[in-house]
Amino acid sequence: MGASPAICVSAAIVKARFFIHEVRMILFRLLLVSTLVVVMPFGAAQAQPDTDAAQSLAKKSKCTSCHSIDKQKDGPSYKTISAKHKGKADAADKLFTHLTSSPKIKVDGKEETHESPKTKNEADIKNLVAWILSL
Ligand code: HEC
Repeated sequence: MGASPAICVSAAIVKARFFIHEVRMILFRLLLVSTLVVVMPFGAAQAQPDTDAAQSLAKKSKCTSCHSIDKQKDGPSYKTISAKHKGKADAADKLFTHLTSSPKIKVDGKEETHESPKTKNEADIKNLVAWILSL
């Protein structure tokens, strides 16, 4: 006597369900992996500022007359600025605003208007900010 047909059918249904579950898991994993492959290079690109572009914009804009990477001049060093803002959620926004809104600053007790970078390209200013914050 073999198994009854009812048992055979329900065993087949269980197997089919298991198979569908497996296929779903495989598709889900593929989706996850392809998302990571697409998204990760963007994250990496943002984390790496273009040092040469940042430094040449700072030079061209005469930022270097008041700021150096690690020495105090009329303005604080970029490293001091970075240490003050680094790790704060709004660091990049704050520095971007500082560089684009011509705020008043004090140099030798005299009030002056802070210089803005000599470019119309926001991405270049953001790169300069990212570079300062990377120091
Ligand atoms: C005349 C001198 C002078 C020039 C030129 C100058 N800065 Fe500054 N900068 C200062 C001083 C002084 C401060 C400090 C202001 C303060 O903390 O109130 C400052 C502050 C900053 C800060 C920090 C702002 C903050 O919120 O902590 C950044 C970033 C900065 N400067 C970048 C630049 C860049 C980029 C340029 C060129 C486009 C530039 N500076 C040109 C004098 C100068």
